[in-house]
Amino acid sequence: MKTTNELIQMKRDSEKITMVTAYDYPSAKQSEAAGLDTILVGDSLGMTVLGYDSTVQVTMDDMIHHAKAVRRGAPDTYTVVDMPFGSYHTSDDEGVGNVLSLYQSSGANAVKLEGIGCVEIIRRAVLAGVPVVAHLGLTPQSVGVTGFKMQAGSLKEAEKLVTDAKKVEEAGACMLVLEAIPADLAEKVTASLSIPTIGIGAGAGTDGQVLVYHDMLQYGSDRLPKFVKAYGDFNSAAAKGLMQYVKEVKSGIFPDAATTYKKRVFEK
Ligand code: KIV
Ligand code: NA
Repeated sequence: MKTTNELIQMKRDSEKITMVTAYDYPSAKQSEAAGLDTILVGDSLGMTVLGYDSTVQVTMDDMIHHAKAVRRGAPDTYTVVDMPFGSYHTSDDEGVGNVLSLYQSSGANAVKLEGIGCVEIIRRAVLAGVPVVAHLGLTPQSVGVTGFKMQAGSLKEAEKLVTDAKKVEEAGACMLVLEAIPADLAEKVTASLSIPTIGIGAGAGTDGQVLVYHDMLQYGSDRLPKFVKAYGDFNSAAAKGLMQYVKEVKSGIFPDAATTYKKRVFEK
């Protein structure tokens, strides 16, 4: 497993950092076997596996439940877990307490928080010994305010994001996720920080990339955001398999001799 310092070293060595989300045992196991540098137990699980229309409904218990399953599937991959909506905005004390408790109960290697409102929580959590990943640009927990669209498109907003990125680095964040921002801005932020940036919808100039498992492998999700490339198609594989199964049970093809226990317990 990579350490936080090794991930920071990868930036210095210009070696790209790979990250994918995982929410359960099989996706974690596949990600570890495929050699991903890092896994994110994203609160996107609210949409991808729980069927909510945003990440806002996701709870601490949801995050712990899924992170533990991921840990069992990928015990040797650096794993980041998201702080859910509402768990770090009421007060710094409560926020820090929740970061510590999520870190402790999930078994993750780092905890991720969205936005610039949590700089003090980052500072205190890092002082307490928790590696913290920051997340700027489009922050899905705020889509009710921002909408699901590219952020920081004006010079003023872009300059603010550069400043904010400096602030989270200064507070002690060990990585920064940049979501849905112009590529030249992501490049500028990346060049101005000594911690790695992980981009999603932020172009090729970041130190690493992250994609949502269910999007990149087309598993349950069918409308992909502009910045997602499909690397697989679980939807068609599942549809094909399930329809064939129905057909074969209805027509008596399944189960066949090969899938049936042959031992006889009754006299003929
Ligand atoms: O929850 C998530 O999947 C994320 C990534 C999009 C970075 O936060
Ligand atoms: Na997230």
